[in-house]
Amino acid sequence: MAAGKGTRMKSKLPKVLHRLAGRALLQHVVNTAAELSARRVVVITGHGAIEVEAALARPAGAGATFGLEYVRQEPQLGTGHAVQQAAPALPDDGVVVVLSGDVPLTQADTLRVLIAACGGDKLALLTIAFADPGGYGRIVRQGGGDGAVQAIVEHKDATEAQRAIQEVYSGIMAVPAKLLKAWLARLDNQNAQGEYYLTDVVKMAVADGVPVVAHKIGDALQVAGVNSPVQLAELERAYQLRTARALMEQGVRLADPARFDVRGELQCAGDVEIDVNCIFEGRVELGEGVKIGANCVIANARIAAGAVIHPFTHIDGGKDPVLVGAGALVGPFARLRPGARLGEQVHIGNFVEIKASTLAKGAKANHLAYIGDSQVGERVNYGAGSITANYDGVNKHTTVIEHDVHIGSNCVLVAPVTIGAGGTVGAGSTITRDTAPGVLTLARAKQVSLSNWKRPEKKK
Ligand code: UD1
Ligand code: CA
Repeated sequence: MAAGKGTRMKSKLPKVLHRLAGRALLQHVVNTAAELSARRVVVITGHGAIEVEAALARPAGAGATFGLEYVRQEPQLGTGHAVQQAAPALPDDGVVVVLSGDVPLTQADTLRVLIAACGGDKLALLTIAFADPGGYGRIVRQGGGDGAVQAIVEHKDATEAQRAIQEVYSGIMAVPAKLLKAWLARLDNQNAQGEYYLTDVVKMAVADGVPVVAHKIGDALQVAGVNSPVQLAELERAYQLRTARALMEQGVRLADPARFDVRGELQCAGDVEIDVNCIFEGRVELGEGVKIGANCVIANARIAAGAVIHPFTHIDGGKDPVLVGAGALVGPFARLRPGARLGEQVHIGNFVEIKASTLAKGAKANHLAYIGDSQVGERVNYGAGSITANYDGVNKHTTVIEHDVHIGSNCVLVAPVTIGAGGTVGAGSTITRDTAPGVLTLARAKQVSLSNWKRPEKKK
């Protein structure tokens, strides 16, 4: 269900598209369905339907064998009405799991237990006890206590005595499709909110003699919804803290778990150290003993064993993951862009940008440089202030710097161009043609000799 408006977000963006840990809320829910190997995933849209439908991605991975289907709910007349719209898309022999698009952190294992509790012939509700259950649908049981579930009563329809019940409905149920469809057809809106309540199916199950089972969990994070920016931020922190704890339990040393963000997947080998304020996005792998300095943003990258990323480094491989070789040193203030591939022991220093380039073992660019669309050989030393001019305004061209070349400071290598192995390019050169191996090339636009110049003396 993702048709609701979410006015408390005070945002033009549909509520379910707000991001938690780098993904839309609804995307988390769809990904969870994929983990369950759902046969179909039917998303009920309404408010912002076009945007929501355009934004969702079909999850990758083994479980994601379904197509995403959308049904529209217009106008929004309640959760029961929402699910009614989806009924034609639900195969009669299936079990339906109802999820809310704004409840992002339900774990697949929890839902597996719920589905097992449904067993193909019962109505299974995911419930939780809250000290402050205000606003939620209450689980009414026979004789109170642990008796059989009789009904869910919405807060606005509940009596004082019912409002004292702490066990609430999470908004998540598992139910055989055939039974669900029959009950949906009988819903009415005779209640305090004039809505078609999905929760009324509980009474119908009881009347039809279908067992209603509650799977009660203690983990509030799994059923927490997002209704406001404050709740979004709280859930984000809770999620990040949980991710941080899991990594620390695995042996990763985080300087401060409260200043650590993963917006995607982070895999760490042993003895990894991460200083404060780092953000990891997309898929990132850190090898054995990797150290990440403070304030780094690292996205879509594989960093091999023993590499050190110094503070304030920005790495983003986008669709072409960045590779950092074993023992490489990067930063501070370095920028590695898509297709940057650094070999072992490569050194990339401050204010150096690398894009779509391979640097072989031991190559160094320590200060103020740009290397784009290039192949750089082993042990090359690339001087401060030097750049590859790879773009002629229309096309991009390749620069090849063979092994053991020294590029002086403040050089421009105008691609396409090859610097022969072992050669040296003198400081301030603009290279427009290939150079032979082993030679010194000086190609300066203008030489100004200052050898006769003396500082004038001050008049007395
Ligand atoms: C619902 C439950 C309540 C439960 C609570 C848990 C009903 C009647 N009540 O409350 O028992 O404790 O969830 O959070 O089901 N939606 C639609 N179309 C609609 C209305 C809602 O798609 O017409 C979607 C919303 O976008 C949201 C979800 O359904 O994703 C739940 O809606 P919300 O209004 O938050 O739930 P309540 O009705 O307050
Ligand atoms: Ca509501």
